[in-house]
Amino acid sequence: MASDSKSKILLVTLAVCAVCAVLVSVAAVGLKPRQEVNQRLEKLRNILDAGGLLRAGADVPEIYNRRIEADFIRLADGASMPENGIPEGVTPETFDFRRLAANPETGRTIEPKNDLAGLRRIPEFMPVYSVRDAAGKLSKVILPVAGKGLWSTMFGFLALDADFRTIRGFTFYEHGETPGLGGEIDNPRWQEKWQGKLAFSEDGQVMIEVLRGSVEAGDPLAPYRVDGISGATKTTQGVQGLVRFWLGGNGYGPFLDRAAEEGLNGAR
Ligand SMILES: Cc1cc2nc3c(=O)[nH]c(=O)nc-3n(C[C@H](O)[C@H](O)[C@H](O)COP(=O)(O)O)c2cc1C
Repeated sequence: MASDSKSKILLVTLAVCAVCAVLVSVAAVGLKPRQEVNQRLEKLRNILDAGGLLRAGADVPEIYNRRIEADFIRLADGASMPENGIPEGVTPETFDFRRLAANPETGRTIEPKNDLAGLRRIPEFMPVYSVRDAAGKLSKVILPVAGKGLWSTMFGFLALDADFRTIRGFTFYEHGETPGLGGEIDNPRWQEKWQGKLAFSEDGQVMIEVLRGSVEAGDPLAPYRVDGISGATKTTQGVQGLVRFWLGGNGYGPFLDRAAEEGLNGAR
């Protein structure tokens, strides 16, 4: 066979393709466990960040274990989940929202008129993460949230003060929005704008709103309003929808009502 014959070129091309395919597959399979560990760590890092507990160079699992108290709550009534209701192997650290929502035994469908987060299905129960001060008094509760943006489902954590009304932190650990546009939801400068905003009116209505532009000085509703991100109205409207959904009656509303009534914010 001449070295420049068509069949030889084809053979070499196929051989190179086969070698590359094997290398890529081996790398993908070999790196998967490490990717999963990193994803889990990123989630814990975001929980700490939302709760204001993240420091540069921090040992994330160590701080998580020391400062965070996690519990599963049933969304329907906000009560703690009995242990036998939680599938084996599901923990607040490994909780897989998509899988639990899709499973008919652990998820439920949201009626379109109530589906402000555009999720169609959600799990029946969710983890909540509490932070206590040195005296054992609740200082923050960190709630996992999810909802549709423009291109993707966005997953994050919203931290509320022990008054269950004031927002203390907001982070996202997974989304597919466009970097520089919708991806700016990751920008700490935008996330800081949520700090201190009031999610509910005094009579308990969900009031938080993301504007198309900026909050004007002197706006009487400023405590409930957050600046939008220019060029990313669709993503930020998705963020507004998901916050309103998760703080409402189909989300953590029953849990927050119960926590406020039972004085979950008292010392243990
Ligand atoms: C390539 C491309 C990517 C975009 N990515 C986003 C995005 O991630 N989030 C978003 O809200 N809008 C995105 N947009 C813009 C939307 O199509 C839409 O114009 C925008 O949400 C309107 O926001 P504005 O009223 O603030 O300009 C993208 C547009 C293009 C062309």
